[in-house]
Amino acid sequence: MKRPLAYVAGTGRGIPAKVMTNHDFAALGIETSHDWIVERTGIVERHIAEPGETTAHMSAEAARTAMQRAGVTAGELDAIVLSTATPDRLLPSTAVDLQAMLGATRAAAFDLSAACSGFLYGMTIGEGMIATGVAETVLVIGAEKMSSIVDWQDRATCVLFGDGAGAAILRRTKGSGNQQRGILSTFMRSDGTLAELLWRPGGGAKQPFCQDVLDERSFYVKMAGREVFKSAVRSMAEACDRALDGAKLTGNDIDILIPHQANVRIIEATAKHASIPMDKVYVNVDRYGNTSSASIPIALDELVEQGTVREGTTALLVAFGAGFTWASMVIRF
Ligand code: ACO
Repeated sequence: MKRPLAYVAGTGRGIPAKVMTNHDFAALGIETSHDWIVERTGIVERHIAEPGETTAHMSAEAARTAMQRAGVTAGELDAIVLSTATPDRLLPSTAVDLQAMLGATRAAAFDLSAACSGFLYGMTIGEGMIATGVAETVLVIGAEKMSSIVDWQDRATCVLFGDGAGAAILRRTKGSGNQQRGILSTFMRSDGTLAELLWRPGGGAKQPFCQDVLDERSFYVKMAGREVFKSAVRSMAEACDRALDGAKLTGNDIDILIPHQANVRIIEATAKHASIPMDKVYVNVDRYGNTSSASIPIALDELVEQGTVREGTTALLVAFGAGFTWASMVIRF
């Protein structure tokens, strides 16, 4: 196990107030049912941002709580790494809006695109910046307004996603007393040959906005659900193994598994593979749906708030998303 170089000093979340239940789809004319959604995914409700409620706004709420819990001021942030698949605009980044909102005058700020794995990618980048001496304090955010990119006419995808943001403050581990506190291992992978199984084909630089893009609705999320499901189960299992190996731990050493919240069946398969009983697995997909890169930091913040994650807790975090990308991390708090 490597000596931890960075630790989580504080967490926060920013969740839209508006809740949409499975029953609310009927009013939109979508042919689905509460029972179908619960049985296939475990989702009961999700939060949906109002039109003026942006990815940056949700991020700012999450960031302010995380900074307060960490005892860090905006002026102390050296970098803001913001993972999102739903930036408020394409240029410049949502991270710079957040930088301005917080008044983080010394911070570098940039967006990161790794879909649902983005928060763990961001944490790994933040740790690297701290390890190389580029930064002492990094704000890592996962924030998504998925409701703005799902096709509300496609029942196979629109029932799955939700909006929200989560944040963590990473700081340099100091001294010898808390040497075991922090990120114990990291793992990241990708496979772009499978990009078309979960993507937004139109509206980017390859096919800029035009009538065809609008007619084909190709700027919305398209997903081959079954194939994504199979890859997610396989990749999250690999990611668990690699993070545990890296930390020289087994599933028995893990106090809590914090998986990406896409589907309760994927979560159960992941836990089973890692030999972690379900009473040590955090599930909140029933209340949030899939919030992509926000799902892990939202879950982490809830766990901190309820006292499940506290000093000494060893957590395994694991994610899978479009790309495909997958990632994992063991953190001792
Ligand atoms: N309500 C009712 N019926 C529906 C709905 C719906 N919302 N959506 C699809 N169906 C129908 C389909 O049309 C199909 O009908 P048919 O048999 O008459 O053709 C039937 O249900 C079965 O469809 P499948 O897609 O085969 O259903 P499946 O059991 O695979 O469940 C699901 C679909 C829930 C999407 C599942 O494949 C899944 O969870 N996949 C992984 C998705 C995921 O997690 N994505 C995100 C991971 S990566 C990330 O987070 C970005």
